[in-house]
Amino acid sequence: MKLVGLVGWRGMVGSVLMQRMQEEGDFAHIEPVFFSTSNAGGKAPALAKNETTLKDANDIGALKKCDIIITCQGGDYTSEIFPKLRAEGWNGYWIDAASTLRMKDDAIIVLDPVNLDVIKDGLQRGVKNYIGGNCTVSCMMMGLGGLFQQDLIEWITSMTYQAASGGGAQHMRELLTQFGSINAEVKTLLDDPKSAILEIDRKVLGKQLAMAPDEVKQFGVPLGGNLIPWIDKDLGDGMSKEEWKGSAETNKILGRGAGFSSDRKAIPVDGLCIRIGAMRCHSQALTIKLKKDVPLDEISDIIASNNQWVKVVPNNREASMRDLTPAAVTGSLTIPVGRLRKLQMGGDYLSAFTVGDQLLWGAAEPLRRMLRIVLD
Ligand code: HSE
Repeated sequence: MKLVGLVGWRGMVGSVLMQRMQEEGDFAHIEPVFFSTSNAGGKAPALAKNETTLKDANDIGALKKCDIIITCQGGDYTSEIFPKLRAEGWNGYWIDAASTLRMKDDAIIVLDPVNLDVIKDGLQRGVKNYIGGNCTVSCMMMGLGGLFQQDLIEWITSMTYQAASGGGAQHMRELLTQFGSINAEVKTLLDDPKSAILEIDRKVLGKQLAMAPDEVKQFGVPLGGNLIPWIDKDLGDGMSKEEWKGSAETNKILGRGAGFSSDRKAIPVDGLCIRIGAMRCHSQALTIKLKKDVPLDEISDIIASNNQWVKVVPNNREASMRDLTPAAVTGSLTIPVGRLRKLQMGGDYLSAFTVGDQLLWGAAEPLRRMLRIVLD
């Protein structure tokens, strides 16, 4: 059995990964070695077989013994450890949730329901680095896989509604704390049905504007009752790093080159990335310029038949409200795609709205599936 090193399995993405690996019986196919950055020598979780103590995640010698390493430890860990491991001649498979290595030539972004051909080609060429994609990109591609596969897309704009979890566990806590303190500020007035709504609104704003640095430590500004129209670094040219990833990663996943307009084979994907007060599902409103005017029922079939997780939601009020929300999708691998209609700009302009759990298809799921592909 292959020795599989697991790093960062206790964090939020890592915990979701462990849960999914158990649900899918992945541990039956591997000899797991649990690593820790803080508790080496401690007791490994019950899933361990022969290696029942935690190994030091910074011990290159211990890591080198693994045939495969899966890490959800984060970018700093990858930057520190990965080059050392390779420099020491380790030739195993590195499967990573962090973005550090994503755009490297010797790495493939994994999303096998969409790019199994690219992954298989990589395996055949001896590529050893397989990296999970940006959550927004992966969830969008799971939804639109059929349109990509049939090469029907000329370009896409994606306007995102990204959940707190994209920032990390502390961001989720901060959002909820903010909701709580806003509620507490107006609770007495809320409990009185005769109180004036504009008085409540004024107090809410007062609370938001007066939040102490500790209450906005993660997001920088209040997210509760608010939104933040910027995610990740400022690239200095008006674009955020999250927005840059849209085209770059989509096209790399598809094996289409760098993803810029100078590359004729690339599909431009561009838009604004917005943080909203959802917990762990990223949503996206998409405008898709099709290469030709395909009838809507055909589009619906192409999208629905691409993979077993995508689900077309009828474009009506009731179904959209029921099935096309973060609350409806959280904890599920289903990727609903709805609000499909031709826009007034013409028959080749399609709208769509999609939602995905950013901890599942956006993070953990492609990694565990890549492990299974390597093991097969
Ligand atoms: N960068 C994403 C976000 C999450 O902040 O929502 C990870 O892909």
